[in-house]
Amino acid sequence: MRSLRFVSGLVVAVLLYARLATTWASEDEPIIAADINGNLIINSSSVTSATRLLFNGVDVLNALTELREICSGCSPQTPPSPTPAPSTTAPTVSPEAVVYSSNVGCSPSGVPPNATHILGHLDLYYCTNLTAQDLQALQNIVHVSGHVHIYYNGLLAHLNGLGNLTSIGTYVLVSDNNALSNLDGLSRLTAINGHFQVANNVALATLNGLSNLISVGDFLQINVNANLESVHGLANLATVGGDFLVISNGALQNVNGLDKLTFVGGSLLISGNVGLKNVDGLGSLSSIGGYLRVQSNVGLTNVDGLSQLTIVGPYIRVQENSHLTSLEGLYGITSVGTYVQICSNSLLNISAVQRELGDLGVPGHTCQTFTTGFFCPC
Ligand SMILES: *[C@@H]1O[C@H](CO)[C@@H](O)[C@H](O)[C@H]1NC(C)=O
Ligand SMILES: *[C@@H]1O[C@H](CO)[C@@H](O)[C@H](O)[C@H]1NC(C)=O
Ligand SMILES: *[C@@H]1O[C@H](CO)[C@@H](O)[C@H](O)[C@H]1NC(C)=O
Ligand SMILES: *[C@@H]1O[C@H](CO)[C@@H](O)[C@H](O)[C@H]1NC(C)=O
Ligand SMILES: *[C@@H]1O[C@H](CO)[C@@H](O)[C@H](O)[C@H]1NC(C)=O
Repeated sequence: MRSLRFVSGLVVAVLLYARLATTWASEDEPIIAADINGNLIINSSSVTSATRLLFNGVDVLNALTELREICSGCSPQTPPSPTPAPSTTAPTVSPEAVVYSSNVGCSPSGVPPNATHILGHLDLYYCTNLTAQDLQALQNIVHVSGHVHIYYNGLLAHLNGLGNLTSIGTYVLVSDNNALSNLDGLSRLTAINGHFQVANNVALATLNGLSNLISVGDFLQINVNANLESVHGLANLATVGGDFLVISNGALQNVNGLDKLTFVGGSLLISGNVGLKNVDGLGSLSSIGGYLRVQSNVGLTNVDGLSQLTIVGPYIRVQENSHLTSLEGLYGITSVGTYVQICSNSLLNISAVQRELGDLGVPGHTCQTFTTGFFCPC
């Protein structure tokens, strides 16, 4: 907590300085100063965007960025304050549509049985008594214009009552539902316009219900589902507009079933999945808009599944995969934004990898000064 407060204090100082910088001296110089309010301002030099701010050797800004990446969309621990119904209307509301214009909460039975469209949010969180049976009240719903929250519903075992739901206007969060064993009820869902997060559902074993999902507009995050063994259910997923994050799913052995996925608009992060043996399921993926990071997957021996990948955004980092012996799966990459960072993979022959990937980075990138080639220290 103390360090958190320290870091946030630091962020405030840095942000404050960033504002002051527009009015202060035009010189780009490192600076430690106090302003008239007594705020401590620390600025490293701004010679390049990669300039670091080190505290006892820790690159704090970088560490903060990483935490944010890893935690993007972490499940909230307290109920959010009620949000007003979105003003957006359903894209195509047919004449037969029966519209319910309100948010729906823990008592779905308030929705008229003939309603087909919810113009509002479906907010099922901390519904301690909510059972799968209660969701039957929503069985005719085909569209929710706002977001769908399904979290901290301890009794909810399945979502079959959402069996006609086809599209969702904004984002979906399914997290911390201890009894939820499958998502079969979402089998008509074809599009989620916003992000989709499936997190910390201890009983969830498959994603089979998502077999009609074709696109996720923003990020897709599958994290900390302790018993999730496969992502086969995503067999029709073709695009993820934002980041695709697969983090700390201890039982996940492979990512088979993602054969249709060709494009990830954001970054691809595969991290902390201790049972993951390979990434063969990503065999169609040809381009990633953001970075590629493969980190702390202790069972991973190769990344052959990424052999169709040719374009990666800002950087590649492969780190702390203690059984990784080959990176040949990355040798087809022809373009990366700035650098390649391969470190702490104890079984990997780094010189062999450097020979293949070492000329991908951009000459002149500052991290070169720390090491040879275009490899950067982690
Ligand atoms: C302070 O740092 C910011 C961010 O790196 C930079 O934009 C700004 O020019 C810096 N100002 C000075 C005076 O160094
Ligand atoms: C839907 O059901 C409500 C009662 O719950 C009724 O008032 C309304 O007329 C019905 N609408 C249609 C289109 O059937
Ligand atoms: C759940 O049920 C219990 C017992 O019937 C009741 O006391 C409680 O108010 C209910 N909670 C909610 C959130 O409906
Ligand atoms: C979908 O809607 C139809 C028509 O209203 C209904 O008969 C059917 O039971 C619903 N299907 C599911 C899976 O809820
Ligand atoms: C590592 O790879 C280099 C370059 O391919 C090779 O010369 C060297 O023998 C390899 N080292 C080991 C320990 O396999």
